[in-house]
Amino acid sequence: MRAPRRLTWARAGALWAGLSATWFAGCPTGTGPAEPEPVAEPEPSAEPEPAPDDFHDPLSTPEEPTVLLSNFTPAETCGNCHVEQHAQWRHSTHAYAMVDPVFRALVHERQVAFAGAQDQFCTQCHSTIGTRGGEVVDNFSFDNLGPVALDGVTCEACHKVTEVVRPYNAGHQLEQYSPMRGPLADPYPSEFHASVETDLLGTAPFCGSCHDVIEVSGLTLERPYAEFKESPRGLDGGRCLDCHMPTYDGPAAKDQPARTGLRDHSFIGVDTPLGDNFFATPDDKAAHRARVEALLTDVCSLSLQTADTVSQGTVIDLFATVKNEIDAHNLPTGTTFIRQMWLEVIATDDTGQVLFETGTLDANGDLRDFWSELDKYGDNDLVSYSSRLIDLLGTPVLFPWDATEHQSTSLSPLYERTSTLFIPTAEAAPGLVTISVRVLFRSHPPYLLRALALDEYLDELVVHELASAETEVLVTAAP
Ligand code: HEC
Ligand code: HEC
Ligand code: HEC
Ligand code: HEC
Ligand code: HEC
Repeated sequence: MRAPRRLTWARAGALWAGLSATWFAGCPTGTGPAEPEPVAEPEPSAEPEPAPDDFHDPLSTPEEPTVLLSNFTPAETCGNCHVEQHAQWRHSTHAYAMVDPVFRALVHERQVAFAGAQDQFCTQCHSTIGTRGGEVVDNFSFDNLGPVALDGVTCEACHKVTEVVRPYNAGHQLEQYSPMRGPLADPYPSEFHASVETDLLGTAPFCGSCHDVIEVSGLTLERPYAEFKESPRGLDGGRCLDCHMPTYDGPAAKDQPARTGLRDHSFIGVDTPLGDNFFATPDDKAAHRARVEALLTDVCSLSLQTADTVSQGTVIDLFATVKNEIDAHNLPTGTTFIRQMWLEVIATDDTGQVLFETGTLDANGDLRDFWSELDKYGDNDLVSYSSRLIDLLGTPVLFPWDATEHQSTSLSPLYERTSTLFIPTAEAAPGLVTISVRVLFRSHPPYLLRALALDEYLDELVVHELASAETEVLVTAAP
């Protein structure tokens, strides 16, 4: 029997009114381990909560602009002096956030679904400046956005943040007249801007202010910061930077003396931007992909257990244990409802005959589950570690705004889960049965790209092997 632990993040009907109360109720207050982060959690506000049908949030999706776009500078200008930071950033997914074809296609679907009335929702994090600066209006078109909005999560979207108000849904203050805020205690003077030292950007709640995502319905979509806060590393004072911004030495700006401990702005995750336009050269794209591969090395371990011998006709009980080796957040994390992580198991007998398979793909490259067009529900044994969005009837849905529940089977930090699979031997030739198991991962499923008419990118999808193991069982002739 296979019983993956099902974690339900949020339920139907949790409206904004109940939302902050629920969120904060989950935070330990006083009795738990001391908060390692210098940024205090905000207290639940005594202000009346916005009515559930009032989509606009004064902080992150204001009805009227709260900043002037002319007070912000395109990243390219910063790159005149911050050559390295710009070169790293411009191939990061932070720079990709507003040009990502998957993002654009989903925003289009949402525009259709809400007749444009919630257009600031998706852009509140993907382009905080464009959203607060009034360029993203109801029924906006990407074609009409200026360079700063199209820069997405650009330099000043981080370096002009003065305060974290809530660790989700773009919950930070963006100060248009702010000097550049950064980690340097004694910055050399710059003719372009004043500088101010701050610890804020290095803290996990700052990253969480965009990385934890809650739908307008109240459904939690992404929660790496919430996971991190309760993880061994989070409780030990660790930071997102430990892994996502490795250090290097060099000048922090052109013609300045070198410094130690600069932070790499490539923000490597699991995703390599699609298409040929984003990267300057194909080599840059290959280099990005190689860094994703490197990040995905040793993220989990896999061990197998079976009997040594069974007699023909009985079932081999295969125990496959997968452990998340990351001490900081779940595996997978973030957009787990888009990512796919699963177990592939193939058992073959001595003659090469396949006795059992799960986690193998159909001719479209899809898993043989609900979303397969060729073999829907053809794989009843599928073990998935991602999450799925479902509606009130329990039917899987593609778009977060159609979902009332988000069911996750992702692995908590350092947590291991054992799945049991039953391999029939009635058809097996007496002799050794070989069982090959792999933990596989990919950033996007083909069915999603097809549903969004993005077929041109299908060839770019890569299935990463996170772990593999093999075992043999001797099948003896039935007595
Ligand atoms: C997603 C947020 C984010 C974005 C976008 C971003 N930075 Fe940073 N930046 C940081 C963080 C975090 C640090 C390190 C903070 C710390 O160590 O406490 C940093 C450090 C710096 C520093 C200090 C020296 C160094 O390199 O470590 C400079 C200069 C800098 N960034 C410039 C830029 C420029 C220029 C851009 C755009 C091309 C940019 N940043 C984009 C978050 C960001
Ligand atoms: C004319 C050159 C120049 C331009 C253009 C420029 N900077 Fe700087 N910046 C500097 C210099 C010089 C320093 C100090 C470097 C040092 O001390 O090693 C600096 C420091 C910084 C720091 C660190 C501040 C601190 O105290 O930690 C940040 C962050 C930063 N710049 C961001 C930006 C951003 C974002 C832009 C674009 C909006 C930008 N800079 C444009 C020259 C420039
Ligand atoms: C111990 C190192 C480590 C720390 C610390 C860490 N991460 Fe990660 N992160 C990883 C690894 C490894 C992956 C790739 C595997 C995965 O997706 O979980 C990853 C993946 C991610 C992804 C992409 C997930 C996806 O599947 O789309 C995001 C987003 C992310 N991390 C954000 C964060 C944030 C935010 C923090 C801080 C709250 C953080 N990480 C802290 C190691 C770390
Ligand atoms: C202003 C909002 C914002 C802030 C602040 C922010 N991020 Fe992000 N981040 C994003 C968005 C949006 C994306 C995804 C863009 C896309 O691919 O379309 C992203 C992507 C990433 C990824 C790549 C995920 C992948 O699957 O490849 C990593 C890693 C990451 N961020 C780490 C961080 C860390 C660490 C911090 C804090 C220093 C941080 N981010 C702060 C909005 C933000
Ligand atoms: C609260 C901030 C926030 C909001 C609101 C938000 N996103 Fe994101 N989005 C992120 C972050 C952070 C990531 C990176 C997480 C990761 O890679 O796992 C991301 C990643 C993505 C990705 C994956 C990028 C890729 O191609 O792999 C897509 C697609 C996306 N978002 C679409 C949307 C859409 C559509 C909406 C509106 C329904 C939306 N986002 C709303 C912060 C946000």
